[in-house]
Amino acid sequence: MKDNIRTNTRKRVLSGIRANSRLHLGNYLGAIKGMLALQENPDFETFYMVADLHSINVPYKPEDLKKNIRHVVLDYLAAGLDPSKSTIFVQSHIPEHIELSYLFATELTVARMLHLPTYKEKIKQYPDDVNMALLYYPVLMASDILIYKANAVPVGDDQLPHLEVTREVARKMNEKYELDFPEPDQFKTEGHYVPSLTGEGKMSKSVEGSYILLSDTQNEIREKLAKVPTDSGRGDKIPETGGVASLFALVELFETIEKKEDYKKQYTSDGIKYSELKSELAEAIYKELGPIQKRRTELEKDEFYVDNVIQESAKKARDIAGQTLKEVKEKMGLL
Ligand code: TRP
Repeated sequence: MKDNIRTNTRKRVLSGIRANSRLHLGNYLGAIKGMLALQENPDFETFYMVADLHSINVPYKPEDLKKNIRHVVLDYLAAGLDPSKSTIFVQSHIPEHIELSYLFATELTVARMLHLPTYKEKIKQYPDDVNMALLYYPVLMASDILIYKANAVPVGDDQLPHLEVTREVARKMNEKYELDFPEPDQFKTEGHYVPSLTGEGKMSKSVEGSYILLSDTQNEIREKLAKVPTDSGRGDKIPETGGVASLFALVELFETIEKKEDYKKQYTSDGIKYSELKSELAEAIYKELGPIQKRRTELEKDEFYVDNVIQESAKKARDIAGQTLKEVKEKMGLL
């Protein structure tokens, strides 16, 4: 089959986004834009999933999860992920991920997992819900990646410790069972750092008031920008942190770098009118999101098409995942 020939020569890419809430500008600029770039690069075969199994290790509502899984798929498609070029699937539809992860777990120590920074952060955030799945998170992630023998993983720097675990598992499995897992690397996308609207840290799903959703209307974007804390609009020194710095960064991301420099000059001379800056910025953001939202509305009407994409992609993913799992089970003496 044509597809299999390509599979052998092209490098594989796998990435995923959790389905804990609707996607925001941070996901879009940081992850989805990178996924799109790789999808269009003929050297890569791309697999993009909704990491729903990674979404249930913190408190959640089943009815919300169900909706959010669909939302992420729709956002992927609306943003331009193309099922004729990328395999777009839902993690839990490929149960082989879980099975392989258990086999990997035999090669990882509990102590190693306990020391991962992401685990430590999560147990601080949810001290009453320190569950086994949280500790197991990187084991499953290693399986997500290695089950497709992916070489490149477009993710943010916060995921680097998980990639280190993935490489370690690959090495150990290869040594012990004569397997041929690649040791995957982070694919650094041009994904920008998108600052929080609160002026502190980065835009994040878990910080209320910090983000603009991909689905926000022009009005909602305006309202959210209106709440960004500012100052008098004038001073000797350009603020490098806080709300004003976030606004400048967003101007650069959605308008132009020249525009940002202009505002900076105004800041140290006549002063900035934030109402004007914010209204122009809202318009620029909406200009980029509007077409995505339009496609999304179309897709929402076409449930059959979306269901079909999910089913067909799952078949393709399962086929590859099943082959890897079988190979590992054979080598481990289970088959
Ligand atoms: N852990 C990733 C995150 O929180 C999501 C994820 C799960 C993932 N499995 C993956 C990312 C495999 C890349 C590859 O963003």
